[in-house]
Amino acid sequence: MLYQQDCASCHGETGKGTSRGPDLTGVGEAAVDFMLSTGRMPKRGAASNQPPYRPSLPEADIKALDQYVTELAAKGGPTIPSVEPVQGDQAKGHILFDENCAACHNSGGSGGILYSRVVPSITGATPTQIGEAMRVGPGPMPVFGPHQLTQSEVNDIASYILSAQHPADQGGDPISHIGPAAEGAVIWLVAITGLLFMIRWIGERG
Ligand code: HEC
Ligand code: HEC
Repeated sequence: MLYQQDCASCHGETGKGTSRGPDLTGVGEAAVDFMLSTGRMPKRGAASNQPPYRPSLPEADIKALDQYVTELAAKGGPTIPSVEPVQGDQAKGHILFDENCAACHNSGGSGGILYSRVVPSITGATPTQIGEAMRVGPGPMPVFGPHQLTQSEVNDIASYILSAQHPADQGGDPISHIGPAAEGAVIWLVAITGLLFMIRWIGERG
């Protein structure tokens, strides 16, 4: 079956881990679904652990594995949050995003570099993945539990991130309010900043 075929070689027959993959006891269904739906798992060598992430399993297999791995080992941790961006307040979400997320993901969610690790762009994440990332705290990202950000604040943040993904559909993100020319200038600025990062990075390696 799927688990034995795609996961057991690293996480062990019973999910208790091996030298190639961590123990999955109590990590929670949210962590399993996040890892699979973003394509971080099943890991296929070091190269697959780089953004941008793309799911490599069909959705039905992901659902089946979510359940199986949760029963096998992962139960006890955060469950898959149900995120409802339409119930969120976009303006509040913008403020919460700037306070809690922008330091790493940039105010537009485009990602960046932190302690020389790549912080992925979140502009392609689904509402569920946004909620899961907050509850799970993948890799170096901190966990935002229900005591730090309530369910309704998660909805607010998801609503803001989605508005930044589709500015035209939802009335615009802050940048597009000042028109296409300014937006073009911002894109240039981002591109040039990226280039400077690259140059510095290459310089440091040489
Ligand atoms: C080649 C080895 C390998 C395979 C195959 C693999 N994993 Fe992983 N998995 C890892 C490693 C290593 C990590 C630690 C994070 C990282 O390095 O990306 C991890 C992390 C995870 C986590 C996060 C654990 C935590 O502490 O939050 C989950 C959940 C997970 N894997 C599930 C799966 C599932 C389900 C499959 C099968 C579809 C799978 N993995 C296949 C190596 C593997
Ligand atoms: C300290 C830096 C930091 C903060 C603060 C932070 N993140 Fe992250 N985030 C990361 C890193 C690093 C990753 C990639 C983790 C990995 O791949 O192992 C990530 C991954 C994600 C992803 C998954 C994107 C994908 O690859 O599909 C989402 C969604 C996300 N973060 C949303 C948020 C939200 C929402 C907040 C604020 C509530 C937030 N993050 C705060 C560093 C951070």
